[in-house]
Amino acid sequence: MSLVFKASSEIQKQNSECLVVSVMAGGKLSQAAQQLDQVCDKAISALIKRGDIKGNIGEALALHHLPGIKAQRVLLIGSDKGKNLSKADFSKWTKTLLEQLTILKVKDAYVAIQELSVADQTAPWLIEQLAIETELNSYQYRSTLSKPKPAPALKKLTLNTAANKAARVAAERGKAVGTGINTARELGNLPGNICTPSYLAKQAKALGRQHPKLTVNIVEEKKMRELGMGALLSVTAGTDQAAKLIVMEYKGAAKTKRPHVLVGKGVTFDSGGISLKPGARMDEMKYDMCGAASVLGTMTTIMQLQPNVNIVAIIGAVENMPSGNATKPGDVVTSMSGQTIEVLNTDAEGRLVLCDALTYAERFKPQSLIDIATLTGACVVALGSHATGLYSNQDDFAEELLTAGESIGDRAWHMPLWDEYQPQLNSNFADMGNIGGPEGGSITAACFLSRFTKKQRWAHMDIAGTAWKSGASKGATGRPVALLSQYLLSKSDKK
Ligand code: BES
Ligand code: MN
Ligand code: ZN
Repeated sequence: MSLVFKASSEIQKQNSECLVVSVMAGGKLSQAAQQLDQVCDKAISALIKRGDIKGNIGEALALHHLPGIKAQRVLLIGSDKGKNLSKADFSKWTKTLLEQLTILKVKDAYVAIQELSVADQTAPWLIEQLAIETELNSYQYRSTLSKPKPAPALKKLTLNTAANKAARVAAERGKAVGTGINTARELGNLPGNICTPSYLAKQAKALGRQHPKLTVNIVEEKKMRELGMGALLSVTAGTDQAAKLIVMEYKGAAKTKRPHVLVGKGVTFDSGGISLKPGARMDEMKYDMCGAASVLGTMTTIMQLQPNVNIVAIIGAVENMPSGNATKPGDVVTSMSGQTIEVLNTDAEGRLVLCDALTYAERFKPQSLIDIATLTGACVVALGSHATGLYSNQDDFAEELLTAGESIGDRAWHMPLWDEYQPQLNSNFADMGNIGGPEGGSITAACFLSRFTKKQRWAHMDIAGTAWKSGASKGATGRPVALLSQYLLSKSDKK
């Protein structure tokens, strides 16, 4: 997909398969639409009079072979007031545009975007959003389909704005973020028998081979045992798949600059272990590696843009299965930090993987440390599918991440991490239990992790509700790649 720029005062002369212009609320034609209306003998205003399109967001009408117009198609898009749209309306507008262009099967389109604006947002912001969405529109899951649908035809969007540096940077960023999101979606969508811990390690290695500033190391189980990662290893005890701790180091800035560190939960299938999950929708637990997928997706984005910042990305990749060797409820394990954990429920495995990965992260002396995990069903109950649950031991850090998410349309919500919740993790037989009872399940999971990140500027993102969709459009969303990319790019001095 490419997004290019060409300002022109004569839209009717554009050589494109489809011209896209706005109809505003009340059937008012935008300036570009009026220009087209003039050359085609008022055919457009006739349709508006007839009431075929009113100008609301979400409406669209395709017209073919209008007299006097070179392009074979004109697509009218409802744009409400056109100026100062809300972000939500603009997002709906973009989706309508891409849906229609996909239905029309056009390879390229010329879009009169200049007549639109979004409240409190700059023109480059708008371009970046459009670039992200067009990239997302080009993704289709095909890997395990013997007869996949043909790929969307759309290859190029031309916007009628000046090709200045800000516009080009925004398009490049949007494309990179979109590509990263698609990478995360693909990894999430792949089934558990393909996307194993070893598969994730291979993907990371492959990314490393492409980029000289990225080194990738895989910590194998033997080494994990030496490091004392008893918590992570307790999760992998019941499976034949080898666990992998994937460590990616990107050097985009001076060696002396401390890195920002990401840690992703990569449970490639979560059966629950001996605390076996019920059968219904258990297939969806192939998505339990979406934290890892978002880390790999974000690194894909970062590799395309090569910002001046040091980043370490760590993935704890494990499969959680029951067997004669599996960890049992009541077993006590010792984490790499030295703290002991009573495994009261083997289905609360994500925190066991993360706690050792977070302790491992300490060696990089992080400037900031973020873990991303499909951690709790309770988070889905609390926030549904629109907001990622965000926790931090430093309020200004949470604020920073909220802002990053807000600005790129990948929102999170700040949840409490109060000491009052900590006693729910008390255990008679270990330093802590791995579950905190039925109340505030997402919060107590975060409390558990906080015990391993005390010295860090740390945040935790529970993406159980936001990482994938169920139902007819079942699939991974690639969240929160956009938020993470936005945050990391804001740390670069190369703008
Ligand atoms: N991977 C799940 C969390 C999950 C559940 C994500 C449903 C998305 C949808 C996690 O490993 C898990 O099983 N958590 C348990 C924790 C409980 C045993 C304390 C849960 O949420 O039920
Ligand atoms: Mn689980
Ligand atoms: Zn899990």
